[in-house]
Amino acid sequence: MDDVSFGSLDFHAIVYFISIKKYKDQKPRTTPANSHQPPTTNHRRRRRMNHTTRQYSIHFMLSRSIIGFIISGSFPLASSLKRIPRTIAPSSSSLNRIQYRGGGENITTMCKSEHETTPPSNELTSSIWTWEDQDSFCDKNHIGYSEVSDPDTFLGGWLAHRYGVDDKSCWIKEAGSKITRFDYSTMPIGRPPRLLILYGSLRSASFSRKLAFEFARLLEEVGCDVRCFNPRGLPVRDPDLESHVKVQELRALTQWSDGHVWVSPEMHGQITGVFKNQIDWIPLNTGSIRPTQGKTCCVAQVNGGSQSFNAVNALRILARWMRMPCVTNQSSVPKAWQEFNDDDGRMKESSYRDRVVDVAEEFAKFTAIMAPISDALTDRFSERKEKEANGRLLSQAEKEKETTIQQSRKG
Ligand SMILES: Cc1cc2nc3c(=O)[nH]c(=O)nc-3n(C[C@H](O)[C@H](O)[C@H](O)COP(=O)(O)O)c2cc1C
Repeated sequence: MDDVSFGSLDFHAIVYFISIKKYKDQKPRTTPANSHQPPTTNHRRRRRMNHTTRQYSIHFMLSRSIIGFIISGSFPLASSLKRIPRTIAPSSSSLNRIQYRGGGENITTMCKSEHETTPPSNELTSSIWTWEDQDSFCDKNHIGYSEVSDPDTFLGGWLAHRYGVDDKSCWIKEAGSKITRFDYSTMPIGRPPRLLILYGSLRSASFSRKLAFEFARLLEEVGCDVRCFNPRGLPVRDPDLESHVKVQELRALTQWSDGHVWVSPEMHGQITGVFKNQIDWIPLNTGSIRPTQGKTCCVAQVNGGSQSFNAVNALRILARWMRMPCVTNQSSVPKAWQEFNDDDGRMKESSYRDRVVDVAEEFAKFTAIMAPISDALTDRFSERKEKEANGRLLSQAEKEKETTIQQSRKG
């Protein structure tokens, strides 16, 4: 026993020394390189906390090692090294790190203990990101109305366009008095148009995101209810991942919306994969429901080179495919690297910026008018026939199956 214990003690001492060195050398986690989640005091708090957690882990390992050694003389410290972070490290859910805001007000901060062991965020939060409970998804108090997405899951951050905006120097506040506004409560829509903003780049300094956020601010200025979707964390389309919480969030946002603003960079004369992937996740039909049918669409692009319209043209084709009527005006910003301020990422004064105001103003009007009539507008003769024959519209997969069965019968 003594031999084993001393041998084990030597082993523990070596492993303990190595583990302390490893933990000391370890760099703290940094802010994710995504300005949909800009550095916040919460991130700084997390960095501080990681340091504390490491110290805690070292002391915990030491005491566990000694107790284990006393009890059995051969407590496997190496395996305890693996277990410690999982038990006492902060949970993967970072809901408490989101700055929650709703309707311009701070609404709530969830008070989950940083040291509480919780299931992964996806499991914890999945039901609130779906369209199952429509009332709570539409509610202004929904936790997605935050300025910063969850740093682990990239959920929420629907008000990312408000982050760091100084109202006093904001050009939109200045231009605001000249932009047409409507009292939506007196129109058939009866409430502010709900607009979803999608953009097609994950780059931290992305100009398409900067342009998308200018659209979001302008549309908010004219009284629309605006939500931005963070494409980070959305998997590449794979039907096996339909229940992924980012997919659920995107689909629910689409169902919630009356219209979309699509902003893609032009790359190789086309829209980006990041952008197209988002649309590919939105089903053309789910049973007899077509999630995007009749919702309005507004298209814009940024270019690295001189003026080009390839991306907006592609976006229009995509909108047609999704059965979304497009507003006629559009924005294409050439040499985008010249058009945004380096410091705050805001768009510089130019004719391109004036065009963005034109497009946003027109789109708000277009959506307010179209939303109440979209069902009537998209009511099709062929679909009424199909409903009469089958009781409902068939999905594409069902139609394909039906054709295969008919062909095999003929064969
Ligand atoms: C692979 C690649 C292909 C590109 N192709 C084009 C192009 O065909 N036309 C164009 O005007 N700019 C092109 N650009 C420039 C991008 O449109 C420009 O850098 C844009 O700002 C990128 O979008 P982001 O800032 O939102 O990430 C290309 C850039 C890359 C990286």
